[in-house]
Amino acid sequence: MDGQIQANTSMKDVVVDANYMPGFGNDFETEALPGALPQGMNSPQKCNYGLYGEQLTGTAFTAPSHQNERTWCYRIRPSVKHSGRYEKIELPYWKTAPHVAHDVISLGQYRWDPVPHAGEALTWLTGMRTMTTAGDVNTQVGMASHIYLVTASMEDAYFYSADSELLVVPQEGRLRFATELGVIDLGPQEIAILPRGLLYRVELLDGPARGFVCENYGQKFELPGRGPIGANCMANRRDFKTPVAAFEDREVPSTVTVKWCGQFHETKIGHSPLDVVAWHGNYAPCKYDLRTYCPVGAILFDHPDPSIFTVLTAPSGVAGTANIDFVLFRERWMVAENTFRPPWYHKNVMSELMGNIYGVYDAKPKGFIPGGMSLHNMMLPHGPDLNAFEGASNADLGPEKLDNTMSFMFETRFPQHLTEFAAKEAPLQDDYIDCWTSLEKKFDGTPGVK
Ligand SMILES: [Fe+2]
Repeated sequence: MDGQIQANTSMKDVVVDANYMPGFGNDFETEALPGALPQGMNSPQKCNYGLYGEQLTGTAFTAPSHQNERTWCYRIRPSVKHSGRYEKIELPYWKTAPHVAHDVISLGQYRWDPVPHAGEALTWLTGMRTMTTAGDVNTQVGMASHIYLVTASMEDAYFYSADSELLVVPQEGRLRFATELGVIDLGPQEIAILPRGLLYRVELLDGPARGFVCENYGQKFELPGRGPIGANCMANRRDFKTPVAAFEDREVPSTVTVKWCGQFHETKIGHSPLDVVAWHGNYAPCKYDLRTYCPVGAILFDHPDPSIFTVLTAPSGVAGTANIDFVLFRERWMVAENTFRPPWYHKNVMSELMGNIYGVYDAKPKGFIPGGMSLHNMMLPHGPDLNAFEGASNADLGPEKLDNTMSFMFETRFPQHLTEFAAKEAPLQDDYIDCWTSLEKKFDGTPGVK
């Protein structure tokens, strides 16, 4: 059966035909063994194959029904058997809000070159490098942005975050997320969403791997309302893929690490916890191919707000004001007449963390390179550099294809605080702020285009 992992073999020894089910937020059902999924009820007196029934909830029991998310799992052991006494461990590079480093200045426009691989074996856990944090994990608001540098697979080791949902944006190398609910293989130009509480192991498929992670402490990511745009374009629901059920029946000493209120805890068990044989529900991981994002933009003049490029939004308590927006700047046609086409200069109440997946970003032709990041924090002005401004101000405005470009933004309503790593260890471009220095005063009091 598709996605089934044979008994007593390692998932990485098996060629997994990782199959997926289409649809964002669907109510899925999937079984890796025939008849493993109860029909017509959730909690039979005895489950087929001797499985244990267990519910994983992603929202409060009493959440409004259009937001309510939960999944019923039928597993070899209940999850309490994947948990024991916990010991705290240190993962010093993975920081959690509130984390305000007092000798670090977060007020500033910052840009980084790609963080290089360190030449040591780093897993998904030890290779996570926090760049910024915002909000407060204890009240489940805000986020963190990370870079991951992965050069080694997790072996007999598993992880879940009770703090957060993780949005993964690979930039180089492919990873396999072997999760409780199935297998996701992920490469550059794709993203994955790993729900809060989901247990998984991360393996390297083609290494080394580097990418970005948005850790969302708040309400889950959802698709933005399209308003007058209607029922199509931007990110379409059918292009999100959720894996079919896959399980391991493997008895070997294993470690489970849990992130909980910003601290990391470890427990030892004697088997693989990826033992869900069948499941149904709407709380599940998924992936999405960014090449299927259908951008909508200006077709006569001017420039809409960048929110037009929102792929996913995680709401806050304030309507229309996101805890996090995930925004994509990809290939598209520029056709606006008599218009300054790059992003305009602005000062934003939200704070913007950007990353380059590949190619050239139109507001910064140089310096913002694939794997690099930039931060324009709350109420800090920014915009095109001199080259972008002069180029766009004097360009012949025929239809132009912006090609070879894919960047993204994690935009949050909260100020983002730099970590010590971001300020002192990551390759910060000290001269970034100088990119606006040579912008000239053109005004001389006389009318006319300058
Ligand atoms: Fe901006």
